[in-house]
Amino acid sequence: MGISLGLVGLGSFGSAFAPLFKSHPLVDRIALCDREPERVEKFAKDPFYRDKFDRSDAYGSLDEICGSDVDALVIITQPWLHAPQCIQAMEAGKHVYSAVPIISIPDGNEILQWCERLVETCRRTGMRYMLGETTCYRPQAMFCRRKAAEGAFGDFVYCEGEYFHDVDNGCNLREVHRLRTSSRSGREWLEFRKKYQEIGAQNGPMHYPTHSTSGPVWTMNAHAEKVTAYGFRNRTGDPYFDDSAFSNEVALFRMSNASIVRIAEMRETPGTPGGGSEAFRIFGTTGSFSEDRWFGIRRPDPEKIDFGNLPRPEVRSLTPGEMRDPLPEDVRQAFKRAMNPGAEEKDLQDMDFSPTGHGGSHPYLVHEFVDAVSSRRQPAINVWEAARYMAMGVTAHQSALRDGETLDVPDWGDAPE
Ligand SMILES: NC(=O)c1ccc[n+]([C@@H]2O[C@H](COP(=O)([O-])OP(=O)(O)OC[C@H]3O[C@@H](n4cnc5c(N)ncnc54)[C@H](O)[C@@H]3O)[C@@H](O)[C@H]2O)c1
Repeated sequence: MGISLGLVGLGSFGSAFAPLFKSHPLVDRIALCDREPERVEKFAKDPFYRDKFDRSDAYGSLDEICGSDVDALVIITQPWLHAPQCIQAMEAGKHVYSAVPIISIPDGNEILQWCERLVETCRRTGMRYMLGETTCYRPQAMFCRRKAAEGAFGDFVYCEGEYFHDVDNGCNLREVHRLRTSSRSGREWLEFRKKYQEIGAQNGPMHYPTHSTSGPVWTMNAHAEKVTAYGFRNRTGDPYFDDSAFSNEVALFRMSNASIVRIAEMRETPGTPGGGSEAFRIFGTTGSFSEDRWFGIRRPDPEKIDFGNLPRPEVRSLTPGEMRDPLPEDVRQAFKRAMNPGAEEKDLQDMDFSPTGHGGSHPYLVHEFVDAVSSRRQPAINVWEAARYMAMGVTAHQSALRDGETLDVPDWGDAPE
């Protein structure tokens, strides 16, 4: 069944998703919405959108688009706005896709309250919520989910998840902050956040934890039960870290499947431990995954160990193409058209489809949300899953603020259905 959806937030990240959402074969109609009129206009006047967009579907605020008849809203606004905006949309009868994280604000207790309210709103309204976590649809995550479903890891033993994004890296976080606070909603935040300064709330990188925590949770289908964490405090008086207790944080979790997970959220150190800045590694008793390599071992029967024929580990290097799941053919073709707007139809048929955007995750996120809404099913990264990523970060930060005290991690259970 075809659906209609509204794109709310057409800033830098929302702009990257607009052509994909517009092109999905199950999307019949799109609406555009941003508080900055020129950001809507950029897409409204682009002929690429003409077959699915009508000028009467242009909106200047979330309040206005909530009064429209579209089925779903894709909310890619600034990170401190997500949770209340998603709740507003679901109360108005819209399914929602939210940019990550659930919400990022300096007060951890308030973040947990928003998790609670989002879960309650999904249950009560029956609306679907999906978090657009790019890590879940990186090739590595797709491969590990398949291996986990086969049972190839054996028992999960240990995982590492990390997000190493130094403030002065290529995608400069000072510049991102300047851009996000230069719009109307951004300037409002500069005033609003004083409320957190007044109550002494101290931020930290673990309040934006989903790129690091999602990989282990998503692959193992397990949640965190306990955490112990420590932070590194900026020592130079860098104004970027003004409202933060720490610029780098590292946490150790005990998970519901008895495995151990190490999470690192780093903003003041250049470089990465492995090949990528958003990465995870997973180690099981019979299979492990690290840096695009699969390590498998066939264990001998403990009662029949043959010392002349001991097992050897299998090591296999994988390409992104080997790790990715396939997309339906009509969706692939539609996304190829979206990514090559000037190309002739006959040339498109022969072109390869190379998914792009955060490890090629963007097309998969779009397909998962549209397909879930259209077929009335729970999206894979639903609110119960998303709350697990967020709760790990919040409680890790609380533990670090208490010099490593071991804390329980709250959990809202598995998604219904
Ligand atoms: N890997 C990832 O998953 C990833 C990468 C980059 C950004 N993001 C997320 O994407 C989000 C957006 O980032 P960005 O850099 O595009 O921000 P941005 O400031 O460029 O864009 C946000 C837009 O939302 C609009 N907006 C805010 N409130 C609104 C309202 N009530 N009604 C209509 N429009 C409204 C603003 O006017 C602005 O144009 C962030 O939350 C960020 O966390 C995720």
